[in-house]
Amino acid sequence: MESRQFAFAYHLYKDKRELSSSDQTLINEAVMSSQKAYAPYSKFKVGVSIRSTDQMITSGANQENGAFPIGQCAERVALYSMIHAHGRKHIDTIAIAVDNKNQKTPASPCGSCRQMLNEYRSYQPTPMRLLLSLATGGQVIEINDIKDLLPFAFDGLFLGK
Ligand code: THU
Repeated sequence: MESRQFAFAYHLYKDKRELSSSDQTLINEAVMSSQKAYAPYSKFKVGVSIRSTDQMITSGANQENGAFPIGQCAERVALYSMIHAHGRKHIDTIAIAVDNKNQKTPASPCGSCRQMLNEYRSYQPTPMRLLLSLATGGQVIEINDIKDLLPFAFDGLFLGK
């Protein structure tokens, strides 16, 4: 028998002003996008802004529906918009901002969005970094690579992609 461990490092910033100006801009875009959410049921507004490796920014917000399961997470709205508008670019950083009165710490992507992001991560050689924040400001959590959030991921490669 052999035991192995999975561990990853992530980084905490007290305020977005500790980050580079391009990261601050990306977070600001995500915050603005959160205001375009349609979240009358959960009141949990999420804005996502994606910066490609060639510095294009595309954003999205969650869109809910009275038929709950057909609602879309902000990550998917943003990523599919990016592909539709600009093609399948490599992604450098994804800022996620949450606007909800009960949420006191930044939220991380749901399991389905981790799987979806990981699909596109497998096409690119470089990490897909995440910046998690609240729309009201304060702490920012930096995750070096989406892969860190999905160990033992199911990969399209298993299907002979
Ligand atoms: N939501 C996102 O947009 N992204 C996530 O990663 C987690 C959840 C949305 C879906 C739903 O509209 C609301 O937040 C509450 O779950």
